Amino acid sequence: MSFHTVEQAAARLNRSELAVPGSQPQLFEKAAKSAADVIFLDLEDAVAPDDKEQARKNIIQAINDIDWGRKSLSVRINGLDTHYMYRDVVDVLEQAGDRLDLIMIPKVGTAADVYAIDMMATQIETAKGRKKKIGFELIIETALGMQNVEAIAGASRRNESLHFGVADYAASTRARTTNIGGANPDYSVLTDKLDDGSRATHWGDMWHYALARMVVAARANGLRPVDGPFGDFSDADGYKAAAGRAAVLGCEGKWAIHPSQVTLANEAMGPSEKDVARAKRILVAMEEAAKAGKGAVSLDGRLIDYASIRQAEVLVKKAEQIAK
Ligand code: GLV
Ligand code: MG
Repeated sequence: MSFHTVEQAAARLNRSELAVPGSQPQLFEKAAKSAADVIFLDLEDAVAPDDKEQARKNIIQAINDIDWGRKSLSVRINGLDTHYMYRDVVDVLEQAGDRLDLIMIPKVGTAADVYAIDMMATQIETAKGRKKKIGFELIIETALGMQNVEAIAGASRRNESLHFGVADYAASTRARTTNIGGANPDYSVLTDKLDDGSRATHWGDMWHYALARMVVAARANGLRPVDGPFGDFSDADGYKAAAGRAAVLGCEGKWAIHPSQVTLANEAMGPSEKDVARAKRILVAMEEAAKAGKGAVSLDGRLIDYASIRQAEVLVKKAEQIAK
């Protein structure tokens, strides 16, 4: 390990993150009863300009009145380039009670964007005597944000997670996208001729670079990487594939833009019972190896070593968090 210690953000289950528009209060109760780990009440892109003020009021009332159970609760404020943002921060932090856990900041472009909201949040918390320190969720969804992702990730001690906002990222980078967060058949390679003379097309994951880069920046700063939306909510298989590949890369969760995606996210982000059982076997095998003075042994015909212990511990800890 490096001499530099990576401090981990507050531990929080974040397998599924359900988006709920602040302008649709009739959806709040249902969201509160869902299986989502985190809910973000939206003041930004799901709310029309004329509805912003009312949405703010709806959200403040709902945070105070609804029983959100053990879910983590977040509010997505408007971007720093709008005139809505300052009032989002002031009204929400001044009027919503301590039930609120997080503020989600969209379209973060530079570390200074985070600094600015940190300064506001700190002043309001001090002035109002808020007991709970608000954490930050940051959406990386512009070319500028991706260029500065490392500095952004380390910009505030309030930072908890980085989110890949694939829809705005596509708009910002001028990527050619079809369904939000889905694949594009034009991002593919054609194989050479196969034995039977035919050629096959292999689709690629056009979001791989961005997602992988964000995961590294998040983990290097002790934050949770979370994959963003998948637009076609009638395509459960497409969602599962997108969530599965994000999980494989190290993401801790994925957004649900529709309640039907919550369970899919929870399952994809796992860990599965099978994974946990194997992780426990690895820990036992390594304990026995240590007693025998060995650093690496074989389990089911595969090498395991000290790195396997660290991976297994992560899985077992996550399973314990879920079981709580
Ligand atoms: C989320 O905000 C996105 O733009 O994908
Ligand atoms: Mg966006």
